[in-house]
Amino acid sequence: MKVLIYRTAQEAKTQAAHRILSAVHREPEVVLGLATGGTMEGVYAALVAGSRQHDTSWAKVTTFNLDEYWGISPDDPASYRRYMNHHLFYHIDIDLSQTHVPLADGADPQKAAQAYDAVIREVGGIDLQLLGIGVNGHIGFNEPTSSLSSRTRLKTLTQSTREANRRFFRTIDEVPKYALTVGIGTILEASECLLVATGDNKAAAVWSMIEGAVSAACPASALQMHAQVTVMLDAAAAKDLKLRSYYQLVHPDGQESALNDV
Ligand code: PGA
Repeated sequence: MKVLIYRTAQEAKTQAAHRILSAVHREPEVVLGLATGGTMEGVYAALVAGSRQHDTSWAKVTTFNLDEYWGISPDDPASYRRYMNHHLFYHIDIDLSQTHVPLADGADPQKAAQAYDAVIREVGGIDLQLLGIGVNGHIGFNEPTSSLSSRTRLKTLTQSTREANRRFFRTIDEVPKYALTVGIGTILEASECLLVATGDNKAAAVWSMIEGAVSAACPASALQMHAQVTVMLDAAAAKDLKLRSYYQLVHPDGQESALNDV
């Protein structure tokens, strides 16, 4: 894992956006895996600003979101489809028909899940997967004890995840109990992963992901098995890392490489 520690949350998010933008410039037909949540709002704001500044065309980009609450229609204000449209898609020239969010308002979650995996396969897989991490170590909505080789499926959300996401709803009872989520096996098949975590409420999960044992108890720890993972943190999220000074030696304040004397 490449561990980049920035001084501020804003810097971590801006640098993550910069990497995604570079991927779009390098490969206009890139297939991106996208995430939602509070952290990503800052990443997408920086991505929209960067796209305007560099006149980036997203016309040939394809995207797949990680998850959607089960039982929520795409035009529900709390849906991740709405979130993506408002935070990113409406502000860039992407073809909306090339943007995918699991369809979670049907009758058959298993069918919807299999269809989602099939479309990912059809386009040849995900090139760059953007990820956040939950305070309980989840990636997507793969809650602790999710199989590390799971595929897209319906998951029951933990109480801690429902409480963490309560701010997007009026009451806790309105927070859905289930979600369709891309599996950990699917995430591990992406060519490259980029995980962004900021704030000291993420420090314990970030420690487990990077320095703890690979375990379904911390689903994000599965990323230790992936050869191309970059983790972008602010100082607060990195505070529990035992090897923090080592990461700083290799990448001072998140710089790409300090090994000029090799
Ligand atoms: P957050 O969510 O950015 O709102 O903390 C991250 C996640 O649960 O993956």
